[in-house]
Amino acid sequence: MTRAVQARINLSALRSNLSRAREVASGCKVMAIIKANAYGHGALHIAKALDQADSFGVASLEEALVLRRSGIVRPIVLLEGFFEIDELPVIAYERFEIVVHHVSQLEILETVTLVHPVVVWLKIDSGMHRLGFSPKLFRSVWERLVQCKNVDGDIRLMTHLACADDLANTKTIQQLKLFDLINKGIRAKKSIANSAGILGWPSTHMDWVRPGIMLYGASPFIDQSAGQLSLKPVMTLCSRLIAVNQYKKGESIGYGGAWSCPEDMAVGVVAVGYGDGYPRHAAFGTPVLVNGCRAKLVGRVSMDMIMIDLRSVKNVKVGDSVVLWGDGLPVDEIAKCAETISYELLCGVAPRVPLQIVDDRNN
Ligand SMILES: Cc1ncc(COP(=O)(O)O)c(C=O)c1O
Repeated sequence: MTRAVQARINLSALRSNLSRAREVASGCKVMAIIKANAYGHGALHIAKALDQADSFGVASLEEALVLRRSGIVRPIVLLEGFFEIDELPVIAYERFEIVVHHVSQLEILETVTLVHPVVVWLKIDSGMHRLGFSPKLFRSVWERLVQCKNVDGDIRLMTHLACADDLANTKTIQQLKLFDLINKGIRAKKSIANSAGILGWPSTHMDWVRPGIMLYGASPFIDQSAGQLSLKPVMTLCSRLIAVNQYKKGESIGYGGAWSCPEDMAVGVVAVGYGDGYPRHAAFGTPVLVNGCRAKLVGRVSMDMIMIDLRSVKNVKVGDSVVLWGDGLPVDEIAKCAETISYELLCGVAPRVPLQIVDDRNN
């Protein structure tokens, strides 16, 4: 038996989640966010499967080039724009679109000579205070971009929401009001909504929405599950039992002897660990599915293995399948047990874990 850990990527679920975004934000164009290797799902497979998206959002020129050179012809937006002047000729040649968020980028854009103008998304800081021009600077930056020979005439406006995951937080409405106020009278296509905006704040939908986590079937909200939002898990991280052992009451399990058996019992060893991206801080009791039944993590997570309490599972044996998250076990639930968010778990799946692409459309 080879090491069994793998991440199954269900492309039908992905397409269903995209349809959900389209249904909720009807009439909007969709920029599918596939940065960080499509949140760990494999950017190329994901981009190919999302042939109904209007464009893709990535974090860097490197990420965009991998897609373009593998045949992705749809518009690709560099969400942080360019970092160095040398990137601009390639960006123009490949017709990538760029976010311009800082005066240092504007100054470079004004000095270079490019084969043709680039499409610019002008980013406004409406309150997130991460990237974007302040409301005070906005008008002068807009004018400079309009005058710049390297900028396509169709400048778009965007901002990013800081607290949309919390439906009780009024910050989103404040951001929306400020965004509207700043660009009053300017004719441009606009984009605000990430997944939380799409699903929770209809007034943020505008012309373009930018779904990320919802495409992968996880919830952007603290208190609503992906299932309640009609999202389907795309990644199922799974492995197999490589040992089933019997221990006596009081015997300790794993590094530091941090967990002890409360009675004589069976403990299983699963071939997955933090070296694969399973969170080292997952608490004792974090659920896994063994042959479809829930069992609990016991002992500390090691690099290549975890141990699980098998008292709840009948007729268990070496080689049985174990789901760490995904189908039947929401990644959001595991994230909570590890005091993190689904985004981090999905992006953190290690390169040594093979992705197995499953597409019902091919069956
Ligand atoms: C600018 C921008 N838009 C959209 C998204 C997608 O966000 P989410 O994954 O919460 O939908 C991100 C992700 O971080 C982002 O940086």
